[in-house]
Formats: sequence, structure tokens, C-alpha cells
Amino acid sequence: MTETLRQYIGGERVLADAPGRSLNPSNTEDVVANVPKGGQAEVDQAVDAARAAFPAWSEASPEVRSDLLDRIGALILERRESLGRLLSREEGKTLPEGIGEVTRAGRIFKYFAGEALRRHGQNLDSVRPGVEIQTYRQAVGVFGLVTPWNFPIAIPAWKSAPALAFGNTVVIKPAGPTPATAAALAEIIYEAGAPPGVFNMLFGDGKMGAALVSHPDVDGVSFTGSQSVGASVAQAAITRQARVQLEMGGKNPLVVLDDADLDRAVAVALDGAYYATGQRCTASSRVIVQDGVHDRFVAALAEKVKALRVGDALDPTTQIGPAVSESQMEQSYDYVGIAKAEGGRVAAGGERIKGPHPGWYVQPTLITDTAKDMRINCEEVFGPVASTVRVKDYEEALNVANAGEFGLSAGIVTTSLKYARDFQRRVKAGMVMVNLPTAGVDYHVPFGGSRKSSYGAREQGFAAVEFYTQVKTAYSAS
Ligand code: UN1
Repeated sequence: MTETLRQYIGGERVLADAPGRSLNPSNTEDVVANVPKGGQAEVDQAVDAARAAFPAWSEASPEVRSDLLDRIGALILERRESLGRLLSREEGKTLPEGIGEVTRAGRIFKYFAGEALRRHGQNLDSVRPGVEIQTYRQAVGVFGLVTPWNFPIAIPAWKSAPALAFGNTVVIKPAGPTPATAAALAEIIYEAGAPPGVFNMLFGDGKMGAALVSHPDVDGVSFTGSQSVGASVAQAAITRQARVQLEMGGKNPLVVLDDADLDRAVAVALDGAYYATGQRCTASSRVIVQDGVHDRFVAALAEKVKALRVGDALDPTTQIGPAVSESQMEQSYDYVGIAKAEGGRVAAGGERIKGPHPGWYVQPTLITDTAKDMRINCEEVFGPVASTVRVKDYEEALNVANAGEFGLSAGIVTTSLKYARDFQRRVKAGMVMVNLPTAGVDYHVPFGGSRKSSYGAREQGFAAVEFYTQVKTAYSAS
């Protein structure tokens, strides 16, 4: 079944020409949706609607906002099976992964339903006698949200839920390859009773995204996507003093020490590097392995990688779904070629494969004997491709882990408390995992990276209030 999507503007579902197509990457003969293509006019209408809705929404009782988010969360959870199926059909992650992501989105709304009821202000003593100080956290205004295709419902959820919880209004532009999944969220938000203009969703290309983030009436911008687009988003926002937050790439290291439980290390690497088709900015794409365990680890991991079943995302036996698009598929194969030309050795995969239908299938690939400065270890592949680097000891492992320009997530597999603790302190990353995959995070705690991975305030959990509110400091004397 092919849906025709509409623009969500000011409480209306606006019908327009729908020249775009969202395809099922597992079977490109299946058209998931016809997609409208908005431009400056739609951005202007949606931002105006969001601006008009802001005063009443920001002044509404927190209970009103909490109730809305709670209803949205409940509806998402109630429909997790069908939404998960749509997500997997459109994005290509497996059905359990799709349902898991939808569940995460539902839980995020539930979490922020609670947060809405907490005003995060403080009372402080003044240094002057007889003076009292209070801080308020107030809504900022209209937020422009630009979200990626790899978490087509969870990321729209974790940006819009805190924005709405703290009294802001939203215009969101979801990524081109996964519009139907995003539209399903907009439908639920409308159905749950969001007042007109509080939440708007627009479909369009990068030009429309640029129009949104540079709109003079957008007060804040939250972006997840590539580094190159992120830089121009930040520029557009900063020029007109809008607040901005960016989440971009990663080249996340996973260190395996000699003392690691080998089965655990293999399971952690397999999950972190390959699940969700490696299309996670938190994926463990560089595996740094100590000499004593290196050969055994590589052999065991290669065997598991070769055994991964690639197929239609909706087939229950599939472990690895397709890439989201032809260009993402080609990017993975390009990097396999680059790594080979740099002297890497293919230990598993590396060949072009065909799936059960015409689609964008990629063979999970492990490349060994790579050096830390090779492109395969510096640039984000964003596919089911990982490389290993051999190191002699912990210090060298840490040094290799800290190479490069990213710093999103980092992991270590070890039974040594000493190395685990040292790694937690010294690795340059916003998130650090001990005996766990670098990807797959909780929904109620801060998320974000350091260095070139992130910019601005942290997302999610108790950190979200920083970005989605502004502080007012009030002094009074009687
Ligand atoms: C996760 O690893 O659970 O775009 C989430 C991404 C990240 C989200 C990762 N912002 O892949």
C-alpha cells in the first residue's frame, strides 16, 4: 500500500502535489509513500503557525503539556507493532529493531510527560541582606528540528518531546528517505490533541531545511545529521543568534583487552558494529584489539560476521537489513575498496551481494590489519563495515581510541577494574561503555559527544531542559 503524505501545518493536514517517493530498501518495487515537496512558502506558514501558538502553549498549565505528552506516548506504545513494521519497511532495520525503536519513542514521550511537571527553577540566597533570588526556566519560542533517517521516529521524539514539554512550539523537517515513519508520529501528535500550530511537520529537500533553520522567527535549532550539513546549520542559526545544538558523526572505538571474556567481546563487537546495519552514529566501527587476544578475537568475530543473515527487514529470520538507500549502499562498498587499497585485509564479507528482492543489500564486512591513520579508521562509513587495529598494550589502545576528530561513544571490553575506570576517565568521548556495545543507549539519560561529534548543549534526559528553556534570574526585596 502506498500512502500519500500531507504537510502538517497549523493543525491542518495540507494536501499538495506529492512528487517524491519513499521506497522500501528491502524491495525497491514497493513504494511506501508519495511525498510532497515543501519550500519557503510552507516554511513561512508553519513558522507563523508555531509563533501564533506559542503564547498560549507556553502559558498553559504544565499539567496540560504533561497530559498531551502522556497521550502521545501511550498511542505510540499501543501501536508499536504496526509502527515498527512501517519503520522497518521504510528504513530497513529488522522488525525487532523497528519495534524497539518505536518503543523507545513512546517511552521518551512518557519520560518528558513527567519532566513537564517539574519546573526546574531554584531559590538562591543573595549576597545582599534582604534580597531574594529566584531562577525561572522559561520556554524559548519556536524550535526548528532537522532529523535523520536512521532513527526516523526516536530522534524526532527526543527532540520534539522536550521542546513541547517545556512550552515551546515545533516545526520539524524529517529526513528524505523516511518520511512515512515521521508522518505517523505527526498523525499521533495531532490525534492526541495538540493545539493547532504547536507541532508542525514539513516534507521537503535540503533547501527547505535550510529555509527552516535560517528563518528569522525560529528561535532554536536542533539538528542530527552529517558534519557538513551541521556546519551550515550552525552558521545559519548563529548569524541571527538562534540557539543551536548539533549531533553529528562518530568513529567510535571499541577496545578489546587481553583479559576480556572472549565471547563477550565478540558479542559486543557484533552488536555495536553490525546491528541496525551499522547505520548508527554510535556504531563501533573501529575495533582496537590487544596483541595477546587479537588473532583469536578476529577469527571468532569473522566467523560470526560471515554467519549473519542479511535479508528483507520484515523477514523474521533476517539479522541485518539493507542499507537505507542506494547511495548509502555504495558508500559502504566504496569504503571496502578504500580499505583494501590502503592495505587492509578482508576477514569477512567484502563482496557485493543480492538480496531476495531488488534492494540495497550490503554484505557485513570485517577488515583487519589496518592502521590508525587509514581513512577506514578516520571517516564514518555508516554501514555494516568494521575494521580492527592491533595494539600491544592498554596505553596504545587508549591512544588509538583517542585518535581522529570524533568523540561520540567509546567502549572497552575488559575484566580489569583498573583499565575500565581509567578508560572511563581518559577516553575522549561523550559516552563511554564498559563491556557493552557503543551503540544502543537508554532513553532517559543525557546523550551526546565531544570534539567534532556534537556542538552545543546535550540532548535527552535531565540535560534536555538546558537547551529547550532559557533561564531568567529574578531579584526581589520587600
Ligand atoms: C543509539 O545508539 O541507541 O543518529 C542511538 C544516531 C544517534 C542515535 C544513536 N543520534 O545514530
